[in-house]
Amino acid sequence: MAHKERVFSGMQPTGSLHLGNYLGAMLQWIEWQKTRECIYCVVDLHAITVWQDPAELRKSTRLVAASYIASGLDPKKSILFNQSQVTAHAELAWIFNCVARLGWLNRMTQFKEKAGKDREKASVGLYAYPNLMAADILAYQATHVPVGEDQKQHIELARDIAQKFNNDFRESIVAAGYEDGNFFPLPEPVITGPGTRVMSLRDGKKKMSKSDPSDLSRINLTDNAETIARKIKKAKTDPEPLPSEEAGLKDRPEAQNLVGIYAALEGISVGDALKDVGGLQFSEFKTRLGDASVSKLEPVGAEIRRMMDAPDELDRILIDGAERARAIADPIMKQLRDIVGFVGPKG
Ligand code: TYM
Repeated sequence: MAHKERVFSGMQPTGSLHLGNYLGAMLQWIEWQKTRECIYCVVDLHAITVWQDPAELRKSTRLVAASYIASGLDPKKSILFNQSQVTAHAELAWIFNCVARLGWLNRMTQFKEKAGKDREKASVGLYAYPNLMAADILAYQATHVPVGEDQKQHIELARDIAQKFNNDFRESIVAAGYEDGNFFPLPEPVITGPGTRVMSLRDGKKKMSKSDPSDLSRINLTDNAETIARKIKKAKTDPEPLPSEEAGLKDRPEAQNLVGIYAALEGISVGDALKDVGGLQFSEFKTRLGDASVSKLEPVGAEIRRMMDAPDELDRILIDGAERARAIADPIMKQLRDIVGFVGPKG
């Protein structure tokens, strides 16, 4: 049975979203919702792999939901909810803990980065995190996953898990009516946003990230116009004027990053952006980049702040989304329990 096209993606509620999340994933999400069934999640279960203050977690969950909507996600069209409210995620993650191999998880680069030198002190959840991510996607038998470049390895792991599950339970899957023996689709990473790897404003070789201690390294979606302009002004550069051709950006990570951001915000290619700004000194270019950033992001920030003043409305949207998510995941989980061999009610 061919799986229906279905899109799933998520972001962690650990503070404000930034320009990397927006250009790497969010704009792509908005595009996909025009033509596909989309499920977008605030992954609060993932957030607690590192300790979170409960009050902050609540606030961040609402903040990320507000950021989705302010960026253009329509909660009537797409399903928007927070992960903890649909128990299928945690249940399927457990089953996948028993499918995935230790060797597979040992290869995950993000765990190595996040756990740092003190691996022994990392939570078990942080280590098993990619299994939960596979569960997020596959609890809905989702086929497409729009993300930034840094999530590619995790989605490849989700494909491996889906494949191994299909192999391990083939007979049972066929008996359940899946003639080709594939209960899970192999989800495809969609890494085609306008900025699939946005780098830090302070270091063109480091990814823009929420966990960077310097707030000057990133533009948050909640930053006001003045803060955005100041961060761009302070962004690291090199001494040369901008080149007129893309090849001239080679070995100039800061120039490459800033021009990439400019092109993404303007919705044009890097080549076209350079036709426009090639030859400019950074001081002049930064004014252009600042203006482009403010005009695109300021309205998003203002809408987020407006929505955060009405948390009850946000909660209502999340509760409604969770109900619609459950309506998709529940029958899949029921079939799955039977395929694995768990005894329970029939039909
Ligand atoms: P998270 O919360 O770190 O990031 C959310 C999304 O933003 C993208 N992103 C970036 N893109 C470009 N440049 C950057 N500097 C940048 N930083 C972040 C990420 O690639 C991601 O698409 N594990 C995931 C959340 C998750 C998930 C899922 C995603 C949980 N379950 C299921 C897809 C499907 C994460 O921590 O993303």
